[in-house]
Amino acid sequence: MSSTNFWDTRFGQEEFVYGREPNAFLAEHHLVFPKGARVLSLGEGEGRNAVFLARQGYDVTALDSSEAGMRKLSTLASQGGVLVSQRLEDMSRADLGVSRWNGIVNIFAHLPFAERQELYVKIRAALKGGGVFLSECFSPRQLDYESGGPRDANLLIELDELLKAFEGFEILLAEETGVTLDEGPFHQGPASVIRFVARKPVSD
Ligand SMILES: C[S@@+](CC[C@H](N)C(=O)[O-])C[C@H]1O[C@@H](n2cnc3c(N)ncnc32)[C@H](O)[C@@H]1O
Repeated sequence: MSSTNFWDTRFGQEEFVYGREPNAFLAEHHLVFPKGARVLSLGEGEGRNAVFLARQGYDVTALDSSEAGMRKLSTLASQGGVLVSQRLEDMSRADLGVSRWNGIVNIFAHLPFAERQELYVKIRAALKGGGVFLSECFSPRQLDYESGGPRDANLLIELDELLKAFEGFEILLAEETGVTLDEGPFHQGPASVIRFVARKPVSD
């Protein structure tokens, strides 16, 4: 099954499988984006994070390759009374632009190693000076847990690769940590995550 079909199948039920509430890490740290910031959410899924950000007053674009996810995002956005721009695209092929976003978010959207190194290069370029990349993803230690995430080590992220990819950025937060997930039926219980927030230099 292609990964798009995997996500369309997972999202093809009425329930919001990661919940309707935003990811806790994003909710805690969103103020790192300036008021009214233009924010791109990669691998947005069913819309919980994009709708949350739009409700905080950000100008949000959600990018995901799952049509079923984007349909649910539309529902959640209209229920929340907000507008979220949508891009139905593969993030590893998408043109993210140059100096275009004040913020880029990736919450639990995992790519194979080589593809995500290319994505990091695009994220660096796509952020405006002073713009922030914020991400929470699973580390390889997540393979010890049953609380969610890919079962393929090639999709799991080491902190060092992010520190290397975002060299020259101001690192606001970079940690591998244990958390207890409570985000719908597929993210439940103890987990090992990488949390990363980095700001592009204004002069870049
Ligand atoms: C675990 S879900 C997380 C969804 C959302 N970020 C959240 O926190 O609720 C992973 C998401 O990444 C998306 N995704 C995976 N690979 C992708 C790709 N290559 N391009 C775009 N989206 C992708 C899936 O469609 C899915 O929505």
